Amino acid sequence: MRIEKIEKMAEEKIAEDYNGATFLRECCMPTGIIESLDHDGRGITRLDGKTIFVEGALPGECVEYSSYRKKPSYEVAQTLRVTKVSGDRVTPRCPHFGVCGGCSMQHFDATAQVAAKQRVLEDNLWHLGRLKPEQLFPAIYGVPWGYRHRARLSVRYVAKKGGVLVGFHEKKSGYVADMRQCEVLPPHLSALLVPLRHLVVQLSIRDQLPQIEVAVGDQTTVLVLRIMAPLKPADEVLLRAFADQHRVVFYLQTKGPATAQLFYPLDAPALSYCLPEYDVEHFFSPTEFTQVNFAINRVLVRRAMNLLAPQAGERVADMFCGLGNFTLPIARSGASVVGIEGSADLVRRAAENAAANGLAGRVEYRVANLFEATPETLAALGHFDKMLIDPPRDGASELVSAFGDDAPRRIVYVSCSPSTLARDAAILVNQKGYHFRGAGVVNMFPNTSHVESIALFERD
Ligand SMILES: C[S@@+](CC[C@H](N)C(=O)[O-])C[C@H]1O[C@@H](n2cnc3c(N)ncnc32)[C@H](O)[C@@H]1O
Repeated sequence: MRIEKIEKMAEEKIAEDYNGATFLRECCMPTGIIESLDHDGRGITRLDGKTIFVEGALPGECVEYSSYRKKPSYEVAQTLRVTKVSGDRVTPRCPHFGVCGGCSMQHFDATAQVAAKQRVLEDNLWHLGRLKPEQLFPAIYGVPWGYRHRARLSVRYVAKKGGVLVGFHEKKSGYVADMRQCEVLPPHLSALLVPLRHLVVQLSIRDQLPQIEVAVGDQTTVLVLRIMAPLKPADEVLLRAFADQHRVVFYLQTKGPATAQLFYPLDAPALSYCLPEYDVEHFFSPTEFTQVNFAINRVLVRRAMNLLAPQAGERVADMFCGLGNFTLPIARSGASVVGIEGSADLVRRAAENAAANGLAGRVEYRVANLFEATPETLAALGHFDKMLIDPPRDGASELVSAFGDDAPRRIVYVSCSPSTLARDAAILVNQKGYHFRGAGVVNMFPNTSHVESIALFERD
C-alpha cells in the first residue's frame, strides 16, 4: 500500500476516532477549539460529526475558519481569526512565512513542535497499528534555524517585471515565492538568494534555468544549475566571478541528476560531512541523497548505534543504506556489515567511502530493490544478528513481511513517515513476534510538519 493511501487512511481514522471537541458558533463563520495537530501540522477540530483540519491553528486555540475543501467525513480549512491564542504561538521569524511553502510551523514554539510531533507519532502508531511502544525515547532535537544543508530552489524569470525569483514554491500555487531570505537555510546560503537573482538575470539563458539545487558540505557549498540551453562565454565569465566572490562551487546539470558536472572551480574540495564520534567522513556528490540536517544526523546516528549496539563478531544488515551513513559507524564498532541499497550510484559511492575510511574489509554492499524483497531473496543474504532499516517514505513492508524464522533478533527502524512506520511495526509485532521496545521522534526538519522517528524492535 503506497504512502498517499496510508496517509489518507490516517486522516480518515483521525476523523473517525476523534472525540470531545467543543464548538462555538459565532457570526457566520464557524468557530472551533483545536484539540491537536494532524500529520501535516494542521489543527484538528470538529463540527456536526465532521473533522475539520484547520491550517494555521494550534492546539488549545479557538479559531474562526473557512473551509476550502469539503469531503463527506472531513473538511480542510484556513484560519481566519484566532479568538483564543495558544501560549505556544510565537511570531514567525521569516517575513515570507505563510506564503512560502518551505515551512509550515514557524508560528509554533520550537519545543512545542517537538512535543506535537511526538503526539503525531503516537497517534499514528495507535490509529494505524493499534500499538503502544514499551518506552518513549527522549526526542532528538536541536537548533531550529539554519539547518537545511540541501535544498532545491526554483528559479523563474518574470519577463514583465524584468526580474528573476529564486526560492521555494508558494504554499498554495506553483509560483516561486518572492523571497529574499530563508531562516532554515544556513545563513551564508540565505544571503545568496538576492545575489543569485542578480546573477541569473544577467545570463543569456535566464529563462532556461528552472532550478538551482544547493548542497552544503563541511568544507564547501555547491550550487547545481539546471540548464536547458548551453551557456555563452559571457555567462561563464559571470559564473566564475560569482563563485570567486561568494566562495561557492558551480555544477551544471543538462538533464537528469546524473548529468551534473563540476563547472568551476575545478580544484574545489569535494563535498563531505564527518561523523567525528565514529571517525568517519562521507563524501557525496551534490545530487546524491544525504540527511538534510547534519547536526541532528550526528545525534541520530549515535542514538541508532546505542540502540543497535553492534559488537565485534556480529553480522549486521544496513537496509536502504544510501552512501553508508549508518554502515560505516556500524563497521567501526567491529561488526561486519552488509549495506543494501537500490541505487547503483549510491552503492558505488558507499564502497568508495568505506575504502576512504579504511573500512572496506568489514563492509559489503549490494544493489537490490528492497520493495521486491521476498523470503527467498532475504534468505539468500544469510543470517543477520541485527538490522538497521532506514527506508524512504513508502516504508519497508515487503522487507519486514519477508522475515522468516531466521530473522534478526534486533531491529532499529529509522522512519521518515509515521504512518508507514505504524504499518510496518504492526507487521513486526503481530505477524513476526517482535516486542516493540521503544520509539521517539527526531526533529530533522524543524518548522515543518515532517516527522522523522526511530524505533526499536527485539524478538526472543
Ligand atoms: C531515507 S534514505 C536513507 C539513506 C541512508 N540510510 C542515510 O542515512 O543517508 C532511503 C534510501 O533508500 C533508497 N531506496 C529507495 N527506494 C529503494 C528500494 N526500492 N530499494 C532499495 N533502496 C531504495 C534510496 O536511494 C535512499 O538511499
